[in-house]
Amino acid sequence: MENTQRSVTGKRLYSAVQPTNALTIGNYIGAIRNMVALQDEYDCTYAIANMHAITVRQQPAQLRANTLSVLALYLACGIDPAKCTLYVQSHVPCHAELAWVLNTFTYVGEMERMTQFKDKSAKHADNINMGLMDYPVLMAADILLYNADVVPVGIDQRQHLEICRDIAVRFNNIYSPTFVVPEGVYPKVGAKISDLLDPSKKMSKSSENAAGTVFMNDDRDAIIRKFRRAVTDSEGVVRYDPEAKPGISNLLSIYTAFTGRSIAQAEAEFAGKGYGDFKSAVAETVADCLAPVQAEQARLLSDKQYLNSVLEEGARRAYKVASATLAKVYRKIGFYQL
Ligand code: TYM
Repeated sequence: MENTQRSVTGKRLYSAVQPTNALTIGNYIGAIRNMVALQDEYDCTYAIANMHAITVRQQPAQLRANTLSVLALYLACGIDPAKCTLYVQSHVPCHAELAWVLNTFTYVGEMERMTQFKDKSAKHADNINMGLMDYPVLMAADILLYNADVVPVGIDQRQHLEICRDIAVRFNNIYSPTFVVPEGVYPKVGAKISDLLDPSKKMSKSSENAAGTVFMNDDRDAIIRKFRRAVTDSEGVVRYDPEAKPGISNLLSIYTAFTGRSIAQAEAEFAGKGYGDFKSAVAETVADCLAPVQAEQARLLSDKQYLNSVLEEGARRAYKVASATLAKVYRKIGFYQL
């Protein structure tokens, strides 16, 4: 595979998705859409974060299958392996190695305060493992290994991005400038897509009630059923107001993300129309947009040889960058080198 990787800005971009369950339209709108849009502008590296995934117990066969599914979805959504490095996190051992070093620059109290750690600890009270707590440090290692200037993610990852920046600055101050301090990039609309049945909650792959989550692999009927049941309000006006109208505002975010229209255009389009019409339009739009992506994902999944070749090339390219950063870190901290 020819590597035509180059960037207009000369800047590097990094992001990753965990291969847990099927991905949701929240993952797509909050992250993958931006990952596709920015690939011509930046030198992009995209991982499938299977080491993060095991912080919650996974079924091994399912984790393996989900890994290829995420790769096929990345590709089906338009991420081009000739422009970007696409790889599986566990294929590059530098992640675990740098995470260990960064652990010694991270305080236990900081990790205990992480919102996602607290939420996941409550949800998985029988398995509050060290990896769950250390999750943000591994994420910092991911980002810092690739000298990323920018990291496109949903708003739920903001706290992790902030701690990554703190760790980088701390290390740079103790030694000398080593790590690039990355910026988070959050979509203006859709940085937090909510659960359709409970708009106070983030739409999540692992929600207890799948009726509130639209998965990227849901069929048309399921998509229409889920949007039909979406919680709204009693005002009867399609208007964007996340505080007063979280359900309708969430549907507007989804609609504009998939159509490319502005919120104002969407509001005008549904002026004088009822919520029933609006929900049907959102559902039809999402189903129409996902159908070709699903077909392409299925086609790619039947060509395992090709997918493996993408991952082999990706791991090779990723290792080259990551191992150079790790060697620099080892040198700075005084690890004896042969
Ligand atoms: P993960 O797999 O939970 O989510 C992948 C991406 O999707 C975004 N996202 C959402 N955005 C908007 N609305 C939602 N409801 C929604 N749900 C998820 C997430 O913000 C994320 O951008 N820790 C990361 C994976 C990771 C990573 C990294 C990301 C590992 N290492 C390094 C960036 C850089 C995660 O759990 O993503």
